[in-house]
Amino acid sequence: MCSGRALRYGGARSCQAQGGPGPCRRRQLLIICLSSAWSVGVWFCYEYSALSLQCLDYSSGALTGDLCEDLCVAQKLVYKHCLYYDRGKKVIQADWRGQPIILKSKKESFSSYQHLSMLEEVETQDIPETELLLMVALEVKNALGLELSNNTMGPLWTRKKGPRWKAQVASMWSLLQQEEYIYFSLLQDFSKHVLRIIGSCGHFYAVEYLTAGHAWHKTLFPLENVMGPSLSGHRSRVRAIIDIALSFLDMVQHFDNDFSHRLHLCDIKPENFAIRHDLTVVAIDVDMAFFEPKMKDILEQKCTGDEDCNFFDCFSKCNLKIRKCGAQRANNNLQVICDKIFRRWFSPNLRGALVSLPLQLQLQKAVQECAQPGHTGATGHQRALKSLSELYHLLRVTQRELQGPE
Ligand SMILES: Nc1ncnc2c1ncn2[C@@H]1O[C@H](COP(=O)(O)OP(=O)(O)O)[C@@H](O)[C@H]1O
Ligand SMILES: [Mg+2]
Repeated sequence: MCSGRALRYGGARSCQAQGGPGPCRRRQLLIICLSSAWSVGVWFCYEYSALSLQCLDYSSGALTGDLCEDLCVAQKLVYKHCLYYDRGKKVIQADWRGQPIILKSKKESFSSYQHLSMLEEVETQDIPETELLLMVALEVKNALGLELSNNTMGPLWTRKKGPRWKAQVASMWSLLQQEEYIYFSLLQDFSKHVLRIIGSCGHFYAVEYLTAGHAWHKTLFPLENVMGPSLSGHRSRVRAIIDIALSFLDMVQHFDNDFSHRLHLCDIKPENFAIRHDLTVVAIDVDMAFFEPKMKDILEQKCTGDEDCNFFDCFSKCNLKIRKCGAQRANNNLQVICDKIFRRWFSPNLRGALVSLPLQLQLQKAVQECAQPGHTGATGHQRALKSLSELYHLLRVTQRELQGPE
């Protein structure tokens, strides 16, 4: 039975519908038990109750994590509002020790995640570490399609034994069922273009809060959030856009070349990227990111025409002789970024008179060419390299033209 207080909740009041397909889900008359830390009698988003249930599971010893104490006991991690869409992940904005953070989980409740039956059968202390490590490796292989060495899996692996070890393993298991958590954890030390993980409690993982993009925003990213009021003039804003565009190119280069396999982004839209204060572009939603081997598996389907070979922003061509889609992606990350992001920026009206007309036109033309889909194989690769170096060049020239005071 519940030991906390039973409270009544109505629908969502502080939900923010972020331009997605629908507003936050509402739950009518939810009666739940809360630990005293969570007993605030106002209307909340659905996730508030998710976090409260999280704390019940924490107090019963079912789950744990380095943020649970702050979330459930010390109240140093405080719910603000939800940011998720109807069918997407649970995304919650919270305040942690005075700093904004984001909590994410693919599913709402801990019990929705696959249970590790082994935990029932034996005392967790008796499960050999090698066996657990093997299970982690299998989960990673499933999620990423890659076989990683034991020492690469450090960030996913909990070695601490103690009274809560069973809860630690159960929590680790729920996190391992979330591909995005695996990507972020493994790429933490290798990439500035992925979200930093701050910690976790059960199946919720906390990441840094950044300025996310919005398709409806005039400049796609709300620059006022990253630039102080002294930098809010037109020239500063245009300079910031050029810097962000250059960071997009750095990210493209990095995802293409710096890992053992190319990383394909198949859901490219402003909402899935954010910028840090230094204007670095960060991928904040990698549910549709795939390393080359998995990408090939996804693309290689039966087909009767090219349209059967489209997988969101990643597509290949149908080989009509064998009725099979090519395993090789026919477009690339740069092409989609040019199409869905750069095209919005590099139209003459946005640059105004700050950049010389010939340069504006050159940039516009380069973006149009880069956004053209589909040359496969070596031709496609050559074209992408040419586009990349041309865009780097033109953006740097623009950057120089924009130097100087407002
Ligand atoms: N780290 C973050 N900082 C700021 N906003 C974020 C962050 N992560 C997610 N968001 C916001 O929440 C929205 C949904 O998150 P996302 O991970 O894209 O989930 P979904 O799978 O539902 O698309 C994003 O489009 C963005 O507006
Ligand atoms: Mg998203």
